[in-house]
Amino acid sequence: MKAKAFKIAEGVYWVGVLHWNGRTFHGYSIPGTTYNAYLVFGEEKTVLIDNVYRNLSDQLYARIEDAFAQEGKEIQIDVFVQNHSEMDHSTYLHETIEKYNPKAEIYASANCAKFLEQQYHNFSDLKINTVATGDEIDIGGRTLSFISAPMLHWPDSMFTFLVEDGILFSNDAFGQHVCYSERYDEDYSLDILGWEAQKYYANLVTLGSPMARMKLQELTDNGIVEQIKMIAPCHGQIWKNPGYILDLYTKWASGVCKDKITVIFDTMHHSTEKLAFQIAEGIMSEGVEVVMYSMETDGPDDVITDILESKAIAIGAPTMMNKPFPRIGSMMYWLDCVNFAVTNSVKNALIFSSKGWGGGAVAKLQKNLEEAGFNVTDSLDIFFVPDEDVLTEAFEKGAQLARSIKE
Ligand code: FEO
Repeated sequence: MKAKAFKIAEGVYWVGVLHWNGRTFHGYSIPGTTYNAYLVFGEEKTVLIDNVYRNLSDQLYARIEDAFAQEGKEIQIDVFVQNHSEMDHSTYLHETIEKYNPKAEIYASANCAKFLEQQYHNFSDLKINTVATGDEIDIGGRTLSFISAPMLHWPDSMFTFLVEDGILFSNDAFGQHVCYSERYDEDYSLDILGWEAQKYYANLVTLGSPMARMKLQELTDNGIVEQIKMIAPCHGQIWKNPGYILDLYTKWASGVCKDKITVIFDTMHHSTEKLAFQIAEGIMSEGVEVVMYSMETDGPDDVITDILESKAIAIGAPTMMNKPFPRIGSMMYWLDCVNFAVTNSVKNALIFSSKGWGGGAVAKLQKNLEEAGFNVTDSLDIFFVPDEDVLTEAFEKGAQLARSIKE
C-alpha cells in the first residue's frame, strides 16, 4: 500500500497507523484510534520509536519508506526504542527489526524487555539494552533521553525525550482514542480532545495517579516541563500545546473536581428511574451540575469519565433476588478497578433503590462503594413504586448531596 509519513519537525516523522473503524479497545468504546510510531533522523543514526497493532503493519511500513524517501536516504533503521510493551504498540516490533535491520540497537526498560519476551516468546534472540531515567543516546546532533514512567500506565512504561527539539514521546500517557486525518491537537476541537483524553485517563490511568503526580513534579523540578515544545503520544493527536494536557493531567491526578454529580441507575419497572430523576431535580435545585446515565443503554466507560471530575455520585438499582439488579454490577466492578481514592479525592455517594419486600440492594451497593473508596453519606430504600411523599424525600436527598459537596 501507499501511505505518507507526516513530518512533525525537521527529520522527525509520524509513521503510525490509522485504525479508522476501531470501535472497542479491550472493553471500552472508542470512535476509532491511532497507533502512533515516530521516525527520528540523526546525523549518524535513524531511530524508530514504538510500533503498531495487529493487521495494520502495511501502513507502518509504507510510512517508514515514505519518510526515508522524503529524506532522500536509503532505508536503514539503526535504533529501535520501545517505550512500552503492550501489544497495540509492539505487535510488529520483532518483524520490523528483522525487516529493516536485524543488527540494530534496541532500547527499552527492563520490564519492557521482560514483558516482550513473555508476550511473544521470541525476543530472547535479540539483545535489548535496558535503560532508565538519566540514560541517553546520541544519534548524531540529536539526543534521546529516557525517562522511566512506571504505572503510566504499566510497570514497563517509559518516555523518550528528544532533547534538542523538545519533543516528548510519551507513549500511552497523554493519549486519546480518536482517529482523524490531521495529526495535531490544534486541528480539532479542544473540547472533544479534552473529553477523549479524560476518558483515556479515567479508564486507563487513574490507578496510576500517585505515579502521575510524582512524575509531573519530577518533570517540573528537573526542568523538562519548560523544555517540552510538543508531546507526541502513541494514541491520537500530537499536542502542540503541551500546557493544555499537562494541566489536565495535573488536575486529574490530584483529584481536582467540579461541583458536579454523576447519577447512575438501572431500573426494572421505572421506580428506581423515578427516584433518579427526582434526585437529579434536587441536585439541580442547589445549582449543581448533573450528568445522568442509565445502565440499560450507557457504557461504564463514559460513566467513569464523568465520575473522574465529579465530587459525588448517586447510584441506584432495584433489588432483584436480594441483590442489586445485575446490570449495575459491571459498573461496580469498574469503580472497584479504577479506585478514584488514589487521586486523593474522596467522593460522596448516595444510594437509592426500589424493592418489593426483603431488599438487599442498598447493603450490597454500600459495601461495594466503600471498598471502591467512596464515602457513602446517605441512602433511600423504598417499597415498590414511589408516591409523592417518597418523591419529595428523593428530591431532598438529592439537594442534601449537592449541599454536601459545597460544604
Ligand atoms: Fe496503548 Fe498500554 O497500550
